[in-house]
Amino acid sequence: MLTKQYITELKRKGNGDIASLVSLQRDVGSINFILESLGRLPENFNPEFLYKLLRHNHSQVRLNAVKNIGKLNAKGDTRSLFELYKKEIDTSVRREIVSSIGRQRKQTNKPLLVDFLQDQDPKIVCQAIRGLLALEQDKEVETNLRPLVNHPNEMVRTIIYKEYFSKEKKNKNILPHAQTYDFLKNIVVNADVLEALKVVPDESVHLTFTSPPYYNARDYSIYPSYQDYLEFLEKVFTETHRITKEGRFLIVNTSPIIIPRISRSHSSKRYGIPFDLHPYLVKNGWDFIDDIVWLKPEASVKNRVGGFMQHRKPLGYKPNSITEYLMVYRKSTEKLLDWNIRSYNAETVKKSKVADGYETTNVWKIDPCFDKVHSAVFPVELCKRVIQYYSYKGDLVFDPFGGSGTVGRTAKSLGRLFFLTEKEEKYFEYMKSKAKNPNLFDDRKTQFLTLKQFKKESNK
Ligand SMILES: C[S@@+](CC[C@H](N)C(=O)[O-])C[C@H]1O[C@@H](n2cnc3c(N)ncnc32)[C@H](O)[C@@H]1O
Repeated sequence: MLTKQYITELKRKGNGDIASLVSLQRDVGSINFILESLGRLPENFNPEFLYKLLRHNHSQVRLNAVKNIGKLNAKGDTRSLFELYKKEIDTSVRREIVSSIGRQRKQTNKPLLVDFLQDQDPKIVCQAIRGLLALEQDKEVETNLRPLVNHPNEMVRTIIYKEYFSKEKKNKNILPHAQTYDFLKNIVVNADVLEALKVVPDESVHLTFTSPPYYNARDYSIYPSYQDYLEFLEKVFTETHRITKEGRFLIVNTSPIIIPRISRSHSSKRYGIPFDLHPYLVKNGWDFIDDIVWLKPEASVKNRVGGFMQHRKPLGYKPNSITEYLMVYRKSTEKLLDWNIRSYNAETVKKSKVADGYETTNVWKIDPCFDKVHSAVFPVELCKRVIQYYSYKGDLVFDPFGGSGTVGRTAKSLGRLFFLTEKEEKYFEYMKSKAKNPNLFDDRKTQFLTLKQFKKESNK
């Protein structure tokens, strides 16, 4: 019977026996089993039978043969792999061929690897880049690779950027990752966010959680057109990107909205805000990470399905909207999350660990919150989850559209710092009034500033 152990024994003895064992097999599954069980290949391994298998008519066999040839490193024969590449139609086999040739680390393979850079398949281009980077680096490799920073494929661009360009980024005078500026700590500014951000230095905040004004849905948010509205948000989130620390998160809460019809002879218009905003964020350096759905009880939302319940006529179906989106983005970086986490000391990491009972899915069932002064406030539970899952103790949490200040109060209660901007004096005063209650805002440390005062503080 074919077992892994038996194959390992044969391999150790020298592999004439493996070649004949393969030739005895009548079914593709057994050939693949042998090829997949070979593991490391010994010095005296004779690969002849592997080259023959490159002509097998089953693609998985060809793939496994290529993989094993790749293990021969410099001893492998490039010619037959290249011959196969020229006529191979199976994508996985083609990619494996380029990977195997790259793993040989032979200077003589350089022209071949450079040719592979022209392939239509971005994964092949990436394999070729890997192969070239593994060779002794010289001017020729660099000359061929650098221009790929403009390659149409984003994966290719990222690899090249990391290899040749990120090290050249000028070393800006920025604070250590876990720290921020004193003049931003527990501050609420009564100003247009874009004005306030003009004095905020690059890489100051660790997390932004916000719910932007809904397009022309409430009195505080009137824009000349939907395009103007999107472009305003684009500016806010591009500035937010600038002030966000490397590799940190932005969570934007929005949902599609409806602008009611002006008369019975017109229709109402629905705007897909989260979907329309998304391309602007990605274009400006935010990597998309997750979509979280905030699910509310049906009784808490406006009834839209009532008409349909009466007439039941198809096309007139209008479901009750019981969801909103929390779109999660990360400031683009070639650094891994581990890099961010390692910027904190062991005690902070320990104290910030998320306790049992955390949400395991991307559907968060949370009751909405109603407020007598502000018409669109975050439930505290929603803020708690976002802040606990996406920041560390001592971090600075930013909300450009502060409203009643839920993000600030929750951040503070969780041992984080906050920085809020709010344009409307009415809501700014409301936050201030809440600060009088020491359980809500600790007013010893919270400062409520006008734009002028804030600018003055930023200069100190
Ligand atoms: C959806 S509410 C945010 C509510 C908030 N999440 C809370 O829990 O109270 C949006 C807020 O953004 C404010 N706003 C609108 N445009 C602004 C701007 N350009 N700069 C600063 N705040 C603005 C509005 O006044 C409103 O209070």
